[in-house]
Amino acid sequence: MNTTALKSEGISQCKKPRGWLGRLVLRNMNSRHSKVTDWGLGHVSIEKRYTILDVGCGGGRTLGKLAERVTQGKVYGVDYSEESVAASKRSNSRWLEMGRVEIRHGSVCQLPFADEMFDLVTAVETHFWWPNLPTDMREVFRVLKSGGTLTIIAEVYLGANTKMAKLCEKYASRTGMTLLDLAGHRDLFAQAGYSDIEIFEERVNGWILWDWQKTVAF
Ligand SMILES: C[S@@+](CC[C@H](N)C(=O)[O-])C[C@H]1O[C@@H](n2cnc3c(N)ncnc32)[C@H](O)[C@@H]1O
Repeated sequence: MNTTALKSEGISQCKKPRGWLGRLVLRNMNSRHSKVTDWGLGHVSIEKRYTILDVGCGGGRTLGKLAERVTQGKVYGVDYSEESVAASKRSNSRWLEMGRVEIRHGSVCQLPFADEMFDLVTAVETHFWWPNLPTDMREVFRVLKSGGTLTIIAEVYLGANTKMAKLCEKYASRTGMTLLDLAGHRDLFAQAGYSDIEIFEERVNGWILWDWQKTVAF
């Protein structure tokens, strides 16, 4: 494999981890995404009774962080990669036994959850991989309670001035990554029905957080 093909393979393992390389990537992401996740969740109000969904839960570190905070609630994880589901289950075995975390295999395109189930939906470093952002955002909207919040945390978006963002931009056509700038995200969420946007940026690291509220039901 040449360098370009290797880089492209590494990036697509982040899209859908599989096999031994996928397991390595998931372990690495659990550690590499921890700081941006802590930064992002620091801007979100999380009540102890909340029911929360983490979409694209990967290696499951975010599920554990959320489970610590919802002492009277529950955290669900969903991911379309079997490898991610298995890794999330391994890293959250204590919470699974307690019944505070539940992890399901499924895609954001058709979430295996009832309408209006969640107070908060989080998505960390994943939404740029979703296959149809406008309809996938509406699918997330469906499972949010009225007044609930969608929180998207990312370190890669169009216009971020970091090495990682530039690398992803370069390989986007090969890997199928959808990179939008700030205005593109605003349009996307508004079209899906969200309102009351809040955006937080940490420019040195290229981190960004979008908080959207579901203020009206369909
Ligand atoms: C870059 S990893 C991020 C994982 C984790 N959120 C983190 O911060 O470390 C992206 C994850 O999103 C998942 N994913 C991508 N597209 C998805 C989809 N359409 N439905 C559900 N999960 C998806 C991948 O399988 C992968 O586990």
